[in-house]
Amino acid sequence: MSRAPLKVGIDLGTSRSSISTSEGKRHVVDSYVGWPVDLVARKVLQQDVLIGQQAIEKRTMLDLHRPLERGVIKEGSEKEVEAVRALLEHLLSSACKTEEGATIDPAHIHAVVGVPAEALRSSKQQLRKSMKGLVGSLMIVSEPFAVAYGLEALLHSLIIDAGAGTVDFCTMNGRYPTDDDQRTLSNAGDSVDDVLYSLVSERYPEAAFSRHMIKGWKEDFSFIGTPREPVSVEVPVRGKPTRIDITNEMKTACETLVDPLCDTMIELISRVEPEFQGLVRNNVILAGGTGLIRGLGGALERTLAELGGGRVRVIQDPVYVGADGGLAIAQDASASEWEQLGVPSSQRLNA
Ligand SMILES: Nc1ncnc2c1ncn2[C@@H]1O[C@H](COP(=O)(O)OP(=O)(O)OP(=O)(O)O)[C@@H](O)[C@H]1O
Ligand SMILES: [Mg+2]
Repeated sequence: MSRAPLKVGIDLGTSRSSISTSEGKRHVVDSYVGWPVDLVARKVLQQDVLIGQQAIEKRTMLDLHRPLERGVIKEGSEKEVEAVRALLEHLLSSACKTEEGATIDPAHIHAVVGVPAEALRSSKQQLRKSMKGLVGSLMIVSEPFAVAYGLEALLHSLIIDAGAGTVDFCTMNGRYPTDDDQRTLSNAGDSVDDVLYSLVSERYPEAAFSRHMIKGWKEDFSFIGTPREPVSVEVPVRGKPTRIDITNEMKTACETLVDPLCDTMIELISRVEPEFQGLVRNNVILAGGTGLIRGLGGALERTLAELGGGRVRVIQDPVYVGADGGLAIAQDASASEWEQLGVPSSQRLNA
């Protein structure tokens, strides 16, 4: 039976990836893929591939990949393409089912996928490879553009999508953004984690903690400026659970983002037509998980105040903003805007 195409928006993120469909389904997964390292691991796990949180939890038994580190599909490795494909397959199979629970023919799926702004050119080919056979029609767009589209902030706005691998900037002038309207910085959530990791290791050389613990502490206690209360966490020190204070380390690590973000924001605003700069300054949108660092929106507003004032809106629930934006683009796109990926073989046989 022929059916209307299922439109989907996918946000392929460094830290988590999400999907929204025209049938109202949504799904999010941590962007990790792992394969059992050996025969023993395969026997214990009883699975060929593990995705998301499951992969993080079982990581000691896995060849674990985070294929979108720094916001691009890592080049030169077939394994990364395979890992991205496994992630995409997981997202599509979780969200694209008929009401009876049957799988939807890939030929009927039209997907808009958001990738970091500057990775658009370099990653496009890799992404196409990963998507082959998974969807019938594809459109690859920049992440901040998808966010702008979803929030209908298409005119005189500046989107800052602060994620894990990258912070993506895009000014919107009521038309498709060009390369000149977009920037990507690699100072983002992961780099805050790196700084925090080394500062805490330096101050407490005997404390034992992992990168996943550091990321969790940051998500719970991150701040810029004045702390609300001291930040202390419990870790084993020579095997004994011990409370350590990490207030200053947290502040220093989070504040490493302020200067690069402010500089790029000013640079992009200064490129806008002079009579519209005031409108853009008052329409800055801070999205992405890293945008939730307490005080980051305020720090950007203080910089805008030096330029004559402005307003930063922080998106408090950023998980599906990119995927919903991709879906909105998919629903509005005309036939000529889609790239055909070729009809999967099952479909050809039935044709
Ligand atoms: N409450 C929070 N405070 C501070 N950081 C947070 C918070 N919640 C999530 N993060 C951080 O946000 C990042 C994830 O954000 P997001 O999901 O927007 O990134 P992504 O889309 O996976 O990455 P990218 O866009 O770079 O590919 C991680 O670094 C995570 O630790
Ligand atoms: Mg993102």
